Amino acid sequence: MRKPAKNKWSKGLYKKAIIDQRKFMWEPEYVALIAKWVGFKQGQTVVDVGCGLGYLGTLYWPHFGKQGKYCGMDISPKLIVQAKKLSQSWAKGGKTEFKVGDAYKLPYPDESADVVMCQTLLMHLDEPQKAVDEMYRILKPGGAVLCKEPDNLSWSLQHSLNSLPELPMKDELFFRKIEYIYAQGRANLRQGFLNAAPRVPLWLKAAGFSQIDAKIASQASLGVPPYETPRQKHEIAERKESICRGKEPRYKKQANDNFKKTFFAGGGTQSNYDKYLKLRQKYRPRKKLYEHQINDGSYYWFNARQLFAIKGSKPK
Ligand SMILES: C[S@@+](CC[C@H](N)C(=O)[O-])C[C@H]1O[C@@H](n2cnc3c(N)ncnc32)[C@H](O)[C@@H]1O
Repeated sequence: MRKPAKNKWSKGLYKKAIIDQRKFMWEPEYVALIAKWVGFKQGQTVVDVGCGLGYLGTLYWPHFGKQGKYCGMDISPKLIVQAKKLSQSWAKGGKTEFKVGDAYKLPYPDESADVVMCQTLLMHLDEPQKAVDEMYRILKPGGAVLCKEPDNLSWSLQHSLNSLPELPMKDELFFRKIEYIYAQGRANLRQGFLNAAPRVPLWLKAAGFSQIDAKIASQASLGVPPYETPRQKHEIAERKESICRGKEPRYKKQANDNFKKTFFAGGGTQSNYDKYLKLRQKYRPRKKLYEHQINDGSYYWFNARQLFAIKGSKPK
């Protein structure tokens, strides 16, 4: 196995993300629909690649767990220990197995799984095709793959609407250009693809999968004051937290350094970087207004979440 890179997902904000962001990600009714669409059946052996804390296990266990087996694997030994502990509450004594391993060399024999699934794994890999090829290898003929990945680039580029004054078109377009450069920088630094989802069908096809199809997640992200639904209450709390975090000097410096490195890696020029800093300064009052609206509960937003479920099957 490759020496695991220092794994960021087992601590701090990253770990918080794989707990908090999952709370309202997929509704049970929609999970049932996807389970049927993919072909989950009771008694199956299901492998979750890059399982983190086992979130996909908690979602799909009701659809295969009776006499079935959940195999969670992740490159982080810490997460695997915790996922195993957490599984006691959802698998309730059913068959589970947790392994530390690398998506590029899955620790399972050829043709041993009925379903292989992953979520927000491929987007972080420098060689996602290699991982998809491995998923194909361990699937039984007729087995299915389910990849849940986002298109965060389109998400950040959508026009959408909120309760702040709109920016002049030329500044709006400039900020979007910066997003493109940043996404390119991540890819160039081999940190994966912000827009992984639209690439997944091609990776599946290249691995040999057929019957490839995709669905988009069912929920939009919106906040209508006074935020009456549990999901809106959760999202507004997250925004408040993120504002506080953004003011911490250590976090601020880390975020700025990371942005700068990624921007230049993406082909950004010094003059665009300087212009970006200037515009950020110009729009500080707008940022203050955002914080004010969040804190006094008057902020409105509407955003489509660009998260997808993509499936394929291994020909018999
Ligand atoms: C964004 S988290 C997603 C976790 C989980 N699938 C979920 O949706 O909550 C990405 C996960 O992939 C794991 N990971 C990253 N690179 C990996 C690799 N090469 N092999 C296996 N797991 C990997 C990380 O440790 C982390 O747990």
